[in-house]
Parts: sequence; C-alpha cells; structure tokens
Amino acid sequence: MQPVPVQKSMSSLLDRCFVQTEPIGVVLIIGGWSFPFQLCLIPLVGAVAAGNCVVLHLSGIGTHAANLLHKLIPTYMDNDCYHVIPGSNHQLGRVLENKFDHIFYTGDRVTGKEVIQAAAKHITSMSLVLGGKNPCYVDKSCDLKLAARRIAWARFVNAGQSSIAPEYILCHPEMRECFINELQICVQEFYGKTPQDSPNYGRMANMEHYHRVKSLLSCGKVVFGGETDDGERYIAPTVLIDVQECDPVMQSEILGPVLPILTVQNLDEAIHFINRKERPLAVYVYSQNQQVISDFLCRTSSGSFCSNDSMIQSVYASMPCGAVGNTGVGIYRGKYSFEAFSHSRICLLRNTAVECVTYLRYPPYTDKALRLLLWACSFSRKKSWCQIL
Ligand SMILES: *[C@@H]1O[C@H](CO)[C@@H](O)[C@H](O)[C@H]1NC(C)=O
Repeated sequence: MQPVPVQKSMSSLLDRCFVQTEPIGVVLIIGGWSFPFQLCLIPLVGAVAAGNCVVLHLSGIGTHAANLLHKLIPTYMDNDCYHVIPGSNHQLGRVLENKFDHIFYTGDRVTGKEVIQAAAKHITSMSLVLGGKNPCYVDKSCDLKLAARRIAWARFVNAGQSSIAPEYILCHPEMRECFINELQICVQEFYGKTPQDSPNYGRMANMEHYHRVKSLLSCGKVVFGGETDDGERYIAPTVLIDVQECDPVMQSEILGPVLPILTVQNLDEAIHFINRKERPLAVYVYSQNQQVISDFLCRTSSGSFCSNDSMIQSVYASMPCGAVGNTGVGIYRGKYSFEAFSHSRICLLRNTAVECVTYLRYPPYTDKALRLLLWACSFSRKKSWCQIL
C-alpha cells in the first residue's frame, strides 16, 4: 500500500509525485458455483486486503456450500464491513439495483450481461470472469501419454465443471485413435472401470447443469463414456468424435465431463480454427517442438496460456487468473487482487518555492520562456521532446 513514486522532471524536482492506492469502496462479489469456496473467498481476500467493504452474493451456489459460508463469514468477520447474501439468481436483480463501487462477477454469460447492464446504470467498475471454449492443441510431436494424463485430469476433475478446463481437442487425424486410447487408459487409472463407483469422481452440481450437459451427449459419436444416471446427476467421463463445428457442444461452454475431439491437418489450421472464434479463457498446447509452442503463444490470444499442461496456470498461487474479450475483464489473485480492488490515486504535493520556473507558463508568451519551459519539463537531455508529452 506504500505510495509508488513517479519519475520527476526538472520542474517537479521539489514536488512530491506519487500514486497512492486506496480502497474502491463497497464491493459486490458474486461468487461462481463451480468451485464455490475458491471463487468466493479468493476475491473476498483481495477485496478485504485492499480495504474495501464487501457484500458477498452466493448466487447459484450449491446449498451446502452457501449455508456454510453464510454461517462462517458472519461468525469470524466484522459484520459492519462484510455481509453475506445467501441468495438465489432471481434475488440478484434486486441486489444489483443498489449502487456499488465495484462489482466482481464469476459465472455465466447471460447473468454476466445483466451484471454489466446494472453496473452501467451507476457507472460502476467491474471485474468479470465468464466462461469460454478453451482449445487444446495436441501436436504430433508431443509425449502422448503425458498429454493424455494431464488433459484427462483437467477435463474430468470436478466432473468437468471448471471454466478453465480444456473444452475441445484439436489434433491430427492420424493420431486421434492413439490419443483416445491413452485418454481411456488414464480415465481407468483415475476412476476405475466404473467411474460411478469411484469416490474420486464428482457429480453435476445441480439438475439444471445435469440436463444441460446430458443433452450435449447426442452430438457426434461417443467413443467412450456416455453413461448417465438422473438419480445421482452422474455423467461418465465422455469423449466425443465426429463433432461438427455447428453442434451445440461446440457452441457454448460445456462445463461438464465431455471432451470433443476435432481433427486438423496442421498447426496453421488449428490456429486459424481458434482465431475464427471469440478469444477463449485459456489456450493449451502440447508439443515437443518449441517453435509450435511459440507460434501458439504469438498467434493466438486468451485470458491465460499454458503449454504441456492444462489448468495448472490457475492453480499456481503466484500466477493471476484473468480473462480477455468476451470471456471477461481484469486479472486477480494475490497482489493482482489487491490492484483489482484498489483505486490508483495520482497525487502531486506541490512545492511553492520555485515560482521562477512556474511563471514561465503564464502569458505573455515568448520564445525564450518556451525554451526554458521545455528544458525544465524534460527528464534528461536525451529524451526531452517525448517526455514532455
Ligand atoms: C513439452 O513436452 C515435451 C514432451 O511432450 C517435451 O519434450 C518438451 O521439452 C516440453 N517443453 C518444455 C518447454 O518443457
């Protein structure tokens, strides 16, 4: 929170110039349901660290998690500064009628748009993390076993309900079968022959998400998985092939344990495929070839990028999480959260002693005064002309 000094020129030599962070004010945090604790508490910690008051809205979060947060936060935190609304989605509209100083929203695009409209009414700043369709390119040259293990973990952990997970695979037609084989081996290693019996495999968070994801299973052809159980909201780890770009499974975010595999002839085609769509939350590439990784890094854009692994970039504590384009705005976590929830105030504490420099700005104007002024406003002789701007 220390003020950050700003570089000085001749004319500001005796002044104090700095940027001071201050709390934005009252922040509304609308937590995401897919990882309720992380998606509520990580932003909350940042907002508190930056000195804000917080209203935490637990919209759409599972009842057990919401009840626990609603009980624990008022017990342990200052009730004058931090307030929890257990809330449901239709209450959110009423909450949003109030004026906040900043809104932090994690969730789906439809509610996200409502949040943006509500924020616009009061010109409230926002941080948004909405979903995206994250491509994952598996290059011919990569270590296929390793790639399959890491992708299977990332796609099927939390029953696929992570907005940062690989949403679809792009690979060469020749390696598709081999890759699917490896994926299937990994799924068996992780969850056994019947994942439904595994204590390590999750369920869909609620009926709405269950039916939404179940309906996607009719796209293309199921190569393994595909089993469902309405009673348990269970959807098996599933891989799809022969999926068309216009199929529902390729339109909106899947947020479930379903992985479509699409084929491309080469790297250029993969990059072209990705760049034809909205920028995703994350881009993943598995390759042994450094040039392939660099190409993806330079020629695509996304909230985050990770080569040779998936999702880990958002798990490393020192790395921020963030979005771009229509997947959201802003980055957060750790110091980046502090910045996201702070206002940077530009401060000049002016010295009144050197009026002899100051008077140069007053009319009547002369060439001599202009020359002196340019000199006084420059930081160094070398860069004087651009620095004055
Ligand atoms: C990425 O993984 C491949 C194995 O598939 C390995 O050869 C390569 O060195 C890795 N890249 C980096 C930057 O470590």
